[in-house]
Amino acid sequence: MSRIIVVSNRTPGKGPAAGGLAVALRKTLAEREGFWFGWSGKLVDEPSAEARFEDIDGLSVAQVDLTREDHHAYYAGFSNSILWPSFHLRLDLATIEAHWYEGYRRVNTQFARALLPLLKPDDIIWVHDYHLIPLASELRNLGVRNRIGFYLHIPFPTTDALYAIPHHQELMRDLSRYDLVGMQANRDVAAFTEFSEHQAPSTLAGSPLKSVDFGRTEVAAFPIGSDPDAFARLAVSPAATKMIKRMERAMGEQELILGVDRLDYSKGLPQRVEAYEKLLANNARFRRLVHMLQVAPPSRDSIKEYQETSDTLDAMCGRVMGRFAEPDWAPLTYVKRAYGQPSLAGLYRLARVGLVTPLRDGMNLVAHEYVAAQNPEDPGVLVLSRFAGAAEIFEDAILVNPFDTDETAEALRMALDMPLDERKDRWKTLMAAARKHSVENWSRDFLDRLAPASIAGTGTRDILYLASVA
Ligand code: F6P
Repeated sequence: MSRIIVVSNRTPGKGPAAGGLAVALRKTLAEREGFWFGWSGKLVDEPSAEARFEDIDGLSVAQVDLTREDHHAYYAGFSNSILWPSFHLRLDLATIEAHWYEGYRRVNTQFARALLPLLKPDDIIWVHDYHLIPLASELRNLGVRNRIGFYLHIPFPTTDALYAIPHHQELMRDLSRYDLVGMQANRDVAAFTEFSEHQAPSTLAGSPLKSVDFGRTEVAAFPIGSDPDAFARLAVSPAATKMIKRMERAMGEQELILGVDRLDYSKGLPQRVEAYEKLLANNARFRRLVHMLQVAPPSRDSIKEYQETSDTLDAMCGRVMGRFAEPDWAPLTYVKRAYGQPSLAGLYRLARVGLVTPLRDGMNLVAHEYVAAQNPEDPGVLVLSRFAGAAEIFEDAILVNPFDTDETAEALRMALDMPLDERKDRWKTLMAAARKHSVENWSRDFLDRLAPASIAGTGTRDILYLASVA
């Protein structure tokens, strides 16, 4: 059976993870031979030519160090100040510095050169996310003929947003050198198809570019998920129960409205707080009876737009506190720190409303985990953005336009007033969808499509994918 080589910018670390990627892929790799390859987290004067192997909680991880300058251009620069805002349709928040692209390519070249000597001919390489779009090109240029797949964890942009990205034509050519490109949602595949079918020449010099040939690349949606049954068990574990008890002591009879997101402008946090403010303004009966908790671990905080989002959120929360708080009642709590999965599972289970309202999101695994953590006898209600990939899966959530804070406020009211029978009915459908789109099914479907022969007929597949995360 072929080995799987997972490649991503961040490798799995110890301690609480801010994003869902590490949680999802750790499980896949724990079940197949292979290793995880990526950045070590270290910044050095000389870039490492060779990867160092380390055992991280039973997982074989190969890592390279980057120079401070390359890392800045590749991560904070091209990846997170150009690709991230553009792919999330926030061109107003993009900052373009031409030289960042060179750093972005340099790091991809460094990754390819360090990975090359570690590869065997039948290894299957699975590259993750927008930091590493050029990696297949770099590997192919070094003679690698292995099957290489790419998975985009964030949304694929509309054609005009794509045109706003410097070197977009080269990036699309890079994508065409993968055997399989996986996206989160049908929406993303449609945007990709729109580009590939109507490619327009786009050089400032006016010389028409050759269109990219995607003839050898398969593109399809593979919606990522969680491990809902393991998460359901976690939600009744002693650590989760401890968090529930702690919250119940503090909250008394109040109903909890919960948001959990990296502190990122794509998550729609100011709009969410405004919607909550409108709920309290329009429905005086909820005051003292509800409490909103927003958990928002800081992320990419060297980037100005992230600092500004943090400042805006501080001001919004202060405004709601000033407007509605009383000496013995606080309408909301805002926590800028990461919590471990068991504590989060407890919070999700306690929350009457899971408020997941990104302005645009690849999938959003918080929505999956909120559903999984519910008590089947008394489930909460998921209020979900139409613009999260999860909206294609969770049709029985209350779907909202997160830009319309009146609509989100009304969705909160509906969720708080929803009778138990309706909550149970909706939750059953949501949980069935979370199970159908589990992380096991996601990785199996992707790998089946990328390299069917490597796993077909071994008879071991079911066993490989059934090990528990607990
Ligand atoms: O959602 C996209 C993503 O890159 C995830 O893959 C990752 O876990 C998360 O954002 C966190 O991003 P960063 O590595 O920049 O902190």
